[in-house]
Amino acid sequence: MLLAARLPAEICLAEECKMVDVKNAVESLPRDEGRTSLPEPIIRMRGITKRYYIGEPNELEILHGIDLTVYPGEFVAIVGESGSGKSTLMNIIGVLDRPTGGSYMLDGVDVQRAKDRELSAIRNKKIGFVFQTYNLIGRQSAQKNVELPMLYAGTSARQRSQRARELLDMVDMGDRAKHQPNELSGGQKQRVAIARAMANNPALLLADEPTGALDSQTSRTVMDLFHELHQKYGMTIVLITHNAELAEECQRVLTLRDGMVIRERKGAGADGHLG
Ligand SMILES: Nc1ncnc2c1ncn2[C@@H]1O[C@H](COP(=O)(O)OP(=O)(O)O)[C@@H](O)[C@H]1O
Ligand SMILES: [Mg+2]
Repeated sequence: MLLAARLPAEICLAEECKMVDVKNAVESLPRDEGRTSLPEPIIRMRGITKRYYIGEPNELEILHGIDLTVYPGEFVAIVGESGSGKSTLMNIIGVLDRPTGGSYMLDGVDVQRAKDRELSAIRNKKIGFVFQTYNLIGRQSAQKNVELPMLYAGTSARQRSQRARELLDMVDMGDRAKHQPNELSGGQKQRVAIARAMANNPALLLADEPTGALDSQTSRTVMDLFHELHQKYGMTIVLITHNAELAEECQRVLTLRDGMVIRERKGAGADGHLG
């Protein structure tokens, strides 16, 4: 039960992880059986390109060969100016979009070889998304929003309800479980969205400008929550941000420019984490 082992028992019921229907679908996909002394990366991208309008004369290449390796338990920031390709890359990392070229292994699964119908199972099981605009379902309580990914994964009603409560407690929103998004502040909505992202015990948390719509004090609270998930629960996190100060708190900072990684450096968050 590797997946169950990622979180402590109080927020990941082993029974529940067995219940997830998509798990078999994901595990039957081609896996990289190569073994080295290093742990298997969560993300291993080589030469990823993305082109729109393929073919002359209007071909437009947005990503020009991205190499990215992220190991379990890393907290990595991707920064870059508007239009540099951050969201395009996030969509590929998150299996919301396919690259035009290159190879991508996500938690041991060869995404390029997966069929379209398998991609949604991969997304649901392996990735927790956090967006700038929260993307919560209106007219649904915080509790129901957090339960939704588990509903798609086939988790029983009782287990969905229990785990959603635990996750809302974890993000300090337990007392707002019955509130709908329009009754919550931006920071509270984002905390619910982070609880939802954790619902299926993902291998990777992927956040695209999660503090982009928040004031600096609220951004601090949200960033502290990411640090907590990283340090306390060993979550692997890729954070896309405009905010240089927040990026600096991560262990590694990659800078994108014009669809290329032009710089990679350790952040202050690397202290005590990376050798
Ligand atoms: N569907 C698309 N078709 C054509 N060009 C696109 C499409 N999506 C994004 N782009 C272009 O790709 C570039 C990178 O966009 P994006 O990844 O959204 O950048 P960022 O998130 O860093 O602001 C931009 O020039 C944008 O106009
Ligand atoms: Mg963007």
